[in-house]
Amino acid sequence: MWPSSTYAAVAPGTGTGGAATGGQGPNAGGMGGGGLGGIGSASGTGGVVSTGAIGATGQGAGGTAGESGMVELLGPPLLFRPTDDGFGLQVVTSPLGKHELSAVVQGEDGSSPRLLGDPTHPAEDITEWEVTDLEPGMRYEYLVLATGDHFVTTLYRGEVTTRRPPGAEYTVALLTDSHIRPREVLPGPVEAVETAEVTLLAVGADILPSRPDFVIHLGDMLDFHDYGFNVPSPSAATTRSGYLNYRRFLGDVLGNAFHFLTIGNWEGESGYFTPEEIERARGPRLLYLPGPRPDTYPEGGSPFEDYYAFTWGDALYVVLNVMTYTPTAHLLTSTDPGTPEDWTLGAAQLDWFERTLANASSKWRFVFIHHTVGGAAGNDVDATYGRGGGQAARVGEQAIVHELMMTHAVQVFFYGHDHVFTDMVVDGIHYTLPGSAGAPWKFTTAETGYTDYWPDSGHALIHVGPASVLVDFVAKGGTSFYSYVLE
Ligand SMILES: [Fe+2]
Repeated sequence: MWPSSTYAAVAPGTGTGGAATGGQGPNAGGMGGGGLGGIGSASGTGGVVSTGAIGATGQGAGGTAGESGMVELLGPPLLFRPTDDGFGLQVVTSPLGKHELSAVVQGEDGSSPRLLGDPTHPAEDITEWEVTDLEPGMRYEYLVLATGDHFVTTLYRGEVTTRRPPGAEYTVALLTDSHIRPREVLPGPVEAVETAEVTLLAVGADILPSRPDFVIHLGDMLDFHDYGFNVPSPSAATTRSGYLNYRRFLGDVLGNAFHFLTIGNWEGESGYFTPEEIERARGPRLLYLPGPRPDTYPEGGSPFEDYYAFTWGDALYVVLNVMTYTPTAHLLTSTDPGTPEDWTLGAAQLDWFERTLANASSKWRFVFIHHTVGGAAGNDVDATYGRGGGQAARVGEQAIVHELMMTHAVQVFFYGHDHVFTDMVVDGIHYTLPGSAGAPWKFTTAETGYTDYWPDSGHALIHVGPASVLVDFVAKGGTSFYSYVLE
């Protein structure tokens, strides 16, 4: 029986009596018949139930106090690089220093819970496990535990499904343009202080009940407006704060679905920055929001984890990076040095994209990118900035991308950047923009050129099956307001 009760977590300062003093932890002789649920029940004993969980669907997050001092999670765990038989599991802890953490995983097939091997520490505050030897397309429950000589406390409980085989039905969530500032992150209850944080928190809560296998963010996860317009991140520490704040406000979706990212113009990795400036953004991203490596999937991709592709069920997902390999600046001014035609994927990425599509065998083929590799919008400045979606299908290098998508039967080109919902069909290919999940700025026809669009914040869902695909737009608050079907 799959446990459904919310796991209690012991809040900071509640003492040593919280968890598993009777030896129910994996370090104390195994979990017995109660499975992971046994640990969860034990962890609340004598403690204070954390209210840090978002969405109230059974996932809990919180901190712990123990004999060896307090350890708390900075946001939910990150689940990444999912394959047929494994995935990455990462937590960021506070305070800095060595903490005794362990993790347990159990499949829904009723197999015995398994204590994961020793974690690695890619950074001083990161604890990371490589989960292996799983079954494809199976739902797994996991626990992250703080352990000591006389206690085991559940820091987090989540569920996730390994990569689906062909024929499976599943859901994917898309969000974009959350524009989260690098505000200092503190452990404990989530307190949103501005529109972007409030919105991402709400959109994350809206996504959670759909139980997506994974989420794809289409770019502009972060926002460095505090330091200028489309400027580099001022420091690696600032970028780290941005990604941790993003993780925190995305909430329990992150701990219950795999995360894939797309590079946008606010990620601090634009191609007109110096290599040192890019590294101030890229370095922390690779640590705090890792993605697929070139050898994670047969489709391969970039060593910087900024473009990649993977297959899930009957669909191919190709994620592109229009920002980092375009050398000119596009700064939304009339003296902009860039043009609508000079956006580029760069030769290496474009060649890889063509190869990936040529080798595709999946029925459904989707492309994800922050904006078109060209622009055609409501005015020249916004066209240069890459706005306009399907209006730009024949502009600059997007014309090559569009031809490749036609040749290789791509059904949908998903993008972000314009902060509204819209969908335009060009030569049978949907150019689909799933709103925004934080940005307080909603662009109008004057900027985008769109005549049919919705200014709501929200997200989109892709329901994938072997016979059909449903793409659904969901406004903040959870109301579905537009959808289309692929057959
Ligand atoms: Fe944006």
